[in-house]
Amino acid sequence: MAVSLRSRARLRHLVQSQQLSRQLLDEIFQRADEMRASPHRAAGRLQGRVMAALFYEPSTRTRLSFEAGMLRLGGQTMGTDNALAFSSAAKGETLEDTIRIVNGYADVIVLRHPAEGAAERAAAVSDVPIISAGDGRGQHPTQALLDVYTIKDEVGRLDGVKVAMVGDLANGRTVRSLAYLLAKYREVELTFVAPPQVAMRDDIKAHLDRHGVRWREVGDLDVVLPQVDVVYQTRIQKERFTDEESYRAVKGRYVIDLAAMRRLRPDAVVMHPLPRVDELDPEVDSDPRAAYFRQARNGMHIRMALLDMVLS
Ligand code: CP
Repeated sequence: MAVSLRSRARLRHLVQSQQLSRQLLDEIFQRADEMRASPHRAAGRLQGRVMAALFYEPSTRTRLSFEAGMLRLGGQTMGTDNALAFSSAAKGETLEDTIRIVNGYADVIVLRHPAEGAAERAAAVSDVPIISAGDGRGQHPTQALLDVYTIKDEVGRLDGVKVAMVGDLANGRTVRSLAYLLAKYREVELTFVAPPQVAMRDDIKAHLDRHGVRWREVGDLDVVLPQVDVVYQTRIQKERFTDEESYRAVKGRYVIDLAAMRRLRPDAVVMHPLPRVDELDPEVDSDPRAAYFRQARNGMHIRMALLDMVLS
């Protein structure tokens, strides 16, 4: 990658999970712990700073948790939803030009874009930190941060953790970023459960092989459920399919419902980046092992820690 992703010992842009060392992860998690334990103590830390949120794809959690985090730290936010229609992208402005312009207005830019590699393109021309909020089918590194933080919190360890990733693994940027981050820990075991049409892509498998991470592909979710610490369920992403028929061929194959929960170990947890459609039955929500709403809440503290790190 041509862009400088770190300046001095600090994180500068965050566009890929691979950038994050164990040392940086520990530091972010420690800051997030502090933000969570004493949210009011952090108030005012980013007073006078401005965050621009450029979202070219829809979002609830990422957009609002970044905004809430910035506001809680005393900073200000501005931005555009549906930027393909409501920014000058609609008039043909390039992403690079938009970033150069927003550089003059904001101290940090949070970017979600449908094109894989968009965050790297933005970072290559930006004088202020770019934080990727997801780039198409590419990566979603801040989601992976909050996911790993949640696993540490819920399971109590990261080394040796056994995680099943389920659903749309080919199009899922969250599982791709999570696999990269988990590969930084010792003796992690990953199980991929997906319809063959949306199996985990080869670049991730090759990365795991290079880093000595054990992984396997299993078709029967019932076999996997009693064997893992974490079931990371994901939505089949209709918006990434070119036709309805292909989507229908894979949707609904793997569902976490009350029957699935009966097969899960008592100390295991279910996570999901959300939003969900039909792959995660709301009847599961009241089970204490359903960690996904706690996971989403952790997102704000992780993003507060990250904003604090790149702007302090
Ligand atoms: N998990 C996630 O990225 O959710 P949003 O699309 O709502 O931001």
